Amino acid sequence: MIQAKDLSKTFKDKKRGTVKAVDGISFECKAGEIFGLLGPNGAGKTTTLRMLSTSLKPTSGTAMINGVDVAEEPEKVRGQIGFLSGNTGLYGRLTAREMVTYFGKLYGMSASDIKLRIDKLFSMLDMQEFADGRNEKLSSGMKQKVSIARSVIHDPPIMVFDEPTTGLDVMSSRTIVQFIRKCRDDGKCVIFSTHIMSEATRLCDRIAIIHKGKIFADGAVDEILSRTGVDNLEDAFIKIVGE
Ligand SMILES: Nc1ncnc2c1ncn2[C@@H]1O[C@H](COP(=O)(O)OP(=O)(O)O)[C@@H](O)[C@H]1O
Ligand SMILES: [Mg+2]
Repeated sequence: MIQAKDLSKTFKDKKRGTVKAVDGISFECKAGEIFGLLGPNGAGKTTTLRMLSTSLKPTSGTAMINGVDVAEEPEKVRGQIGFLSGNTGLYGRLTAREMVTYFGKLYGMSASDIKLRIDKLFSMLDMQEFADGRNEKLSSGMKQKVSIARSVIHDPPIMVFDEPTTGLDVMSSRTIVQFIRKCRDDGKCVIFSTHIMSEATRLCDRIAIIHKGKIFADGAVDEILSRTGVDNLEDAFIKIVGE
């Protein structure tokens, strides 16, 4: 469902000069699979996900989403994906229900489809209790749930989530993790980024370890552990990246 091949992104930065944020990475992610991009701050995770979701153009390389090239037909790609970015904004004066409805309309959904989908999503994300209050009054965990519901209202086959649980309370992050699992079980292709090793271990079918714009290892968590001869991803990460 997602095929990234030799994907690169270079930024021109006034202070730092040329920054190779993503430097020739390749990976694949299938339907019914959770794929994790695991790496520290500055590794290139967000830049990679922004290229997949067509909000940034690759400097070189290609990414195919469901057989469609992100650079050639970005609009077609956008209908296939739900993208949650770190700065997905909420309209403070709208309620969750109003805002998600608004995005459903933007995707051309009918009022009855929107209603059905909202009922399902709000129940999966445990949002019923705060769905009709203003967004500006919500906690960060609640806000993140609204952003997730908003990003997948059109029921896309591919979900791209940038650090979906970073900085959230335990309960919200548990619900979001369960939501991601459910999406996978429904046959979606989910790619998400995290810098939290334990989360990657818990949630991912496969991971890619990314550092300084490059992928250092990829595979099932168990494979990576047995390849490195350690029993947790943190040690594996240090071993792989340190070499
Ligand atoms: N718009 C930009 N302009 C200049 N440099 C950028 C820009 N976006 C990201 N970078 C740089 O690219 C590198 C990778 O960033 P990012 O993809 O945000 O990493 P991550 O999400 O893994 O923390 C970092 O060095 C970051 O400072
Ligand atoms: Mg990031």
